[in-house]
Amino acid sequence: MNRYVIYTSLLIFGVILPLAMITAWLTTPPPAPSTPPAPVLFPKLQLPKVPLPTGDDPESIVLRHAILNGERIYQRLCHHCHGRLGKGDNNDYMASIGRKPADHSDLAAMQKLSDEEFFVALRDGVKDERGWLTMPPWASVLTGQEMRDVIVYVRHLPLAASPN
Ligand code: HEC
Repeated sequence: MNRYVIYTSLLIFGVILPLAMITAWLTTPPPAPSTPPAPVLFPKLQLPKVPLPTGDDPESIVLRHAILNGERIYQRLCHHCHGRLGKGDNNDYMASIGRKPADHSDLAAMQKLSDEEFFVALRDGVKDERGWLTMPPWASVLTGQEMRDVIVYVRHLPLAASPN
């Protein structure tokens, strides 16, 4: 390769090209700030307002924790069929085959169910006369304590004020 070609390539690749790149870099305007994406709006949950004990004594603290934990569980796992307010009105199919769940906010109706029966219904599910599950069992999902907390929450639903 003759000297002329080497000098020319050195000039192009060693000086002119880097200078052109630096100039391009310095003169390119920064990208226009992109508009932030529109916030995704979730509808506010309409939950029944269960009265919470306010005291600092151990009983109030334990009860408050049980109600809040029960609410968390009920409003995640149970509302799909029992409804946000516990009225048993969120599963049209079960209602259409005559298996509408009880109204958990109806004190008189719920008093027919002892805590023991409630626990067994939760743990093992509810079956119809053929032995088919009409309500799923929760023993593999919830611990005994979680089932007791959800019972405490449901027991307080008749006292709840409706959401505004
Ligand atoms: C897939 C729908 C579904 C889910 C989810 C569900 N249930 Fe039920 N549940 C039912 C149906 C339907 C009945 C009525 C069954 C019957 O009478 O044969 C029922 C009955 C019950 C009963 C007996 C009294 C009543 O309401 O009729 C209790 C207590 C109960 N469910 C509590 C719960 C709790 C607590 C959860 C959440 C951990 C829950 N259920 C989740 C469908 C569901």
